[in-house]
Amino acid sequence: MMAQQGPARADLVLKGGKVVSDRTIREADVAIANGLIVAVGTPESMPAAVGTLDVSGKHILPGAIDAHVHFRTPGYSYKEDWESGTAAAAMGGVTTVFEMPNTHPPTATAEALRQKLELASPAYVDYGLYGLLAEDNLEHIEDLITGGVAAFKCFMGNTFGNLPSPSTGAMLEGFELIAPHGLRISLHAETASIMARRQKRLEAAGRCDPLAHLASRPAIVAVEAVSRAAILAEWTGARIHVLHISSADELRVLREAKARGVDITGETCPHYLLFDEQAYRDLGSLIRVNPPVREKFHQIGLWQGLKDGTIDMIATDHAPHSTEEKIVENIWKADCGFVGVETQMMLMLSQVALGRLSLCDYVRLSATAPARAFGLYPSKGIIEVGADADIAVVDLDRPFEIREADLHSKGRVTPFEGMTGRGTPVHTLVRGRFVMRDRELVREAKGHGMSVRRIQRMPRPQPANLAQTMKHIVSV
Ligand code: NCD
Ligand code: ZN
Repeated sequence: MMAQQGPARADLVLKGGKVVSDRTIREADVAIANGLIVAVGTPESMPAAVGTLDVSGKHILPGAIDAHVHFRTPGYSYKEDWESGTAAAAMGGVTTVFEMPNTHPPTATAEALRQKLELASPAYVDYGLYGLLAEDNLEHIEDLITGGVAAFKCFMGNTFGNLPSPSTGAMLEGFELIAPHGLRISLHAETASIMARRQKRLEAAGRCDPLAHLASRPAIVAVEAVSRAAILAEWTGARIHVLHISSADELRVLREAKARGVDITGETCPHYLLFDEQAYRDLGSLIRVNPPVREKFHQIGLWQGLKDGTIDMIATDHAPHSTEEKIVENIWKADCGFVGVETQMMLMLSQVALGRLSLCDYVRLSATAPARAFGLYPSKGIIEVGADADIAVVDLDRPFEIREADLHSKGRVTPFEGMTGRGTPVHTLVRGRFVMRDRELVREAKGHGMSVRRIQRMPRPQPANLAQTMKHIVSV
């Protein structure tokens, strides 16, 4: 009888740390059993445990949920694969990633999805797979949902992979198909035709310097696309997410759409918060990314948008490429994007240390908000009884220096090379299992990661039952 009530012992208790949520920081121990958090509270309220870990002086954060990574497999495995990409995530305090469909083949059919789910099996951390929403795959949308995609991605503008952007007509039909299922549609919101014409003119004028990339993609490129997507979402009731917000101008569109009741969320990335147009002079083609890093006033606006809640979350757009693909003379020949999943938490915690962001805001932006937006809350995104034990234990005082040689990705070249700061994840747990411990990757945890759609289908005790279980344990 008692066995049915749940574990009589915890597997692990984290002792002496400070538990951080999007609202509070409190001293509390955390007990974990069968991958779930089973108690959060005073040392006296903890169940007996098989193991304990002293985390005094450290903070216990919900692991980061990165809604935007490119792990490149199948098709470009020399840039990244599931083992290297999720190892990088684990080292960076990231416990769930949402992986993009611009692989080769793209994740546009149920067959491609099955293939990717198999390739993802070495994952260290949990993952959601994006299905593609394109001009010519509308008949596959239902099968992609049944097959287990966690969300959809629509490339409104050209970027790595050269997937053609769908017409507004196909987008509308795609939104209509997806809306009743409630899955969110994430948008690469840049309008293809504007950029194509500008780039052609710049090239014809002989421009191939790094700043020509920014000139080919002024903020109107993003503003027009976000506005159009928001109107389609309003019409269809589809939930949408604006990826990699790069300009202050997009924020007005986002604010107005939210005010009209559109279910729209938005993310920005550390590179838009930490670089401005000076980076084109300092870093050359390495900084090339879609959408581009912009002028200082955009950066200032994005920080404002983070604080006032217009921007919901931080994601990385982790986009690994080889050094040869990134460092080239002609800007139009440089592959766009760079790694980020391993360095996001350090970089943003260093901004917390500098007083630009509160620790609770950071938890909201990196974990709670993405969990809510993508239907994982309260199983993920919070340290609370009944949630998955997805945890980043961080040392806010521990200094770091970002060095490419230390990163776990295959393509490692990063514009953050040499950056220093304070605030480092020291342990990462995914559903109760260490995937990073004392800054070391736990290699035996390879393959522990699961698709979030599978986890959601697993029978799990409700928080109420767990509370009962805990009463029982405490009284033992
Ligand atoms: C991404 C990539 O390399 O896959 N590149 C980028 O510049 N951001 C694609 C994308 O997210 O646009
Ligand atoms: Zn994109």
